[in-house]
Amino acid sequence: MEINGRTRTCGLIGNPVEHTLSPMIHNTLAGRLGHDLVYVPFPVAGGSVEEAVAGAHALGILGLNVTVPYKSEVIPYLREIDPLARDIGAVNTLVRCVGGYKGYNTDMEGLYRAMRSEGIELDGQSVILLGAGGAARAVAYLCAVKGADRVWMLNRTLEKAQAVADEVNGRAGRNVICPMRTEEYAAIPDGRYLAIQGTSVGLAPRTQDAVIAENAFYEKIGTGFDLIYNPWETRFMQLVRAHGGRAYNGMKMLLYQGIIAYELWNDTRVSEEDAQAVYDRLARAAGR
Ligand code: ATR
Repeated sequence: MEINGRTRTCGLIGNPVEHTLSPMIHNTLAGRLGHDLVYVPFPVAGGSVEEAVAGAHALGILGLNVTVPYKSEVIPYLREIDPLARDIGAVNTLVRCVGGYKGYNTDMEGLYRAMRSEGIELDGQSVILLGAGGAARAVAYLCAVKGADRVWMLNRTLEKAQAVADEVNGRAGRNVICPMRTEEYAAIPDGRYLAIQGTSVGLAPRTQDAVIAENAFYEKIGTGFDLIYNPWETRFMQLVRAHGGRAYNGMKMLLYQGIIAYELWNDTRVSEEDAQAVYDRLARAAGR
């Protein structure tokens, strides 16, 4: 694209940002849709988030993504916040508004759209969720908001799962999250569940790790969704497939969190054809 006097700027704040795939997502979309927009990474040093947000607004920046470690830290510096992002306590997308930015969490809407694109529903479902950290906590909210019937939340540290369950169940006004110690999974009634892998276990370089390796666990899984996309096929996914289940990695979640951000910034809707074209580029970048 040719940058000119009217080119609008979006970007990413985080630390580090060197390995981000977001510029590929947004610049590919801008090119395909013919938008005069450029997306760039902005490394922000610790303690400078407030200045970064104010500076971005002063410079006329249309929108920002926010990544680790600032997804919660950025919240006090927003003009407005979307209710789901507020409940989750994490924001990954800022949309310019009068006097500042409005914060959203498109990670979770992105996960939802990724699941829907694979024909996976949450409404009325019983779900197994591995983990109770920041990512899994957000997934627990998503499941509650999207009408899951029950979420068996398995975690190494029961207290953390208990705390997330108390919080999400309180907000939802119903007992949707059921916390358990990981090794107690046998107490989950037999079935072929949707299982969402929301821990950091299995992430490169420790690609041979899985939170649970026992066959009996994978016999309960019909569909496995790992939030990790590096490696492309995690040990969790291999085990799901070895037991006859379908398995997906987190690349479509990454894709759709970006697409939803792009849609918010440009007040547009990205077609499935364009989404597929971006996905193909992401997959190639991941060596597929
Ligand atoms: P994130 O922001 O990626 O969710 P996090 O908040 O640090 O990261 O959460 C990490 C999750 O992975 C937690 O559920 C953690 O379990 P604990 O709550 O018991 O710490 C889980 N996790 C990390 N390493 C693990 C391991 N070796 N075995 C089992 N679970 C692990």
